Amino acid sequence: MRHLPIKNKLFTQNRKRIIDLMEPKALAAVNANDVLPTNADGTLTMQPNADLFFLSGIEQEESILMLFPDAAEAKNREILFVRQPSKHLQIWEGYKHSKEDARKISGIKNVQWLSEFPAIFRSLMCEAESIYINSNEYKRANVEVQTRDVRFIHQCRENFPLHTYRRLAPLLHQLRVVKTDLELELLKEAVDITAKGFRRTLRFVKPGVTEYEVEAELAREFIKRRGKFAYTPIVAAGKNNCVLHYLQNDQVCKKGQLLLMDVASSYANYNADLTRTIPVSGKFNRRQKKIYNAVLRVLRASVEGATVGKLHRDWTKESQTHMNEELLELGLIKKSQIKKQDPDNPACRKYFMHGLGHPLGLDVHDVGDANVPFAPGTVLTVEPGIYIPDEGFGIRLEDDIVVTEDGPINLMAKIPIEADEIESIMNR
Ligand code: GLY
Ligand code: MN
Ligand code: MN
Repeated sequence: MRHLPIKNKLFTQNRKRIIDLMEPKALAAVNANDVLPTNADGTLTMQPNADLFFLSGIEQEESILMLFPDAAEAKNREILFVRQPSKHLQIWEGYKHSKEDARKISGIKNVQWLSEFPAIFRSLMCEAESIYINSNEYKRANVEVQTRDVRFIHQCRENFPLHTYRRLAPLLHQLRVVKTDLELELLKEAVDITAKGFRRTLRFVKPGVTEYEVEAELAREFIKRRGKFAYTPIVAAGKNNCVLHYLQNDQVCKKGQLLLMDVASSYANYNADLTRTIPVSGKFNRRQKKIYNAVLRVLRASVEGATVGKLHRDWTKESQTHMNEELLELGLIKKSQIKKQDPDNPACRKYFMHGLGHPLGLDVHDVGDANVPFAPGTVLTVEPGIYIPDEGFGIRLEDDIVVTEDGPINLMAKIPIEADEIESIMNR
């Protein structure tokens, strides 16, 4: 692990939070992610399971967490199963957790080798009346591969057809959307690393550099600070500003163009999510600056609008109303278009066609029920944009915020965003 050790209180707290939501006599099981194949005998870098990490701090493959708060014997109330280290694994893959290390990371006393799982699980299932199993219930997920959790559900149903099956995902979503102070510390580290990367690009970008060279500057800064790209970086110059999921990053940045960078670091699995749009030559032209300031005003108003008790959809509607006014002022839409707009598809969507923001945390598009109002501790991105392919450029700005009882806190308040400040740093 590149990150420094994490206080296991973060995970013991989370286990306590989820146990409080579980039904009596229920057992819960959470599986690690698979190591995914590429071609031939290649594999992708292991992506830790966010839920397993949230509840245990364990990032290692082939691990299982079992929670059974009503187990007759105290030692069976929390059990962590990990792969048994061996000489063979040591030679080919290196370090695997010892029981003692897994205890330290998770705060779970009862750590067993994975080979013990079937017998222990069978015996505890005979004590339990229901079982919570995890599944990916993210609304827009498009999962074509079978996860360990899904395989586990099939095995379980075959062996224990008469138990009651329960969904763990809604409980996890409810908890994960509200960040504890210990989680916020890690998120802030991700934001700090991201800030350093962005400042580096302000010194680096000039006409003639390529998008991938900018990506390399960011990678250098993130990795040397124990971070890594939170998501595939978008480094888009000129008309590529308008491609919302631009990933090629292979073009030359030219004088007069804008460079849109939707790039951020994660730290200890917690993700930042930043977008800045800067002038390649260090100076915005008049038109670019006008649009830029309109986006910035919508961002600032939307940050202020993210208050406790508000629904995501109402927050979005407010920002769309504001964006309509800005676009009217810019001459990009007409009053009549606003008048006759479909409320579900407001006029601004021609230029601002994506969401205003999303929950952020262990996943970049983090879990959380959009029908539940913002609670203190909710972390959101705020990311308005105006894209004008006809004029060959687009602008998006994105900050990360925490909703609190005393109003929103902008975690990215120190990352340069004023057009003048960006210009002045670039021209230093
Ligand atoms: N970087 C992904 C997003 O902004 O949602
Ligand atoms: Mn982003
Ligand atoms: Mn985002």
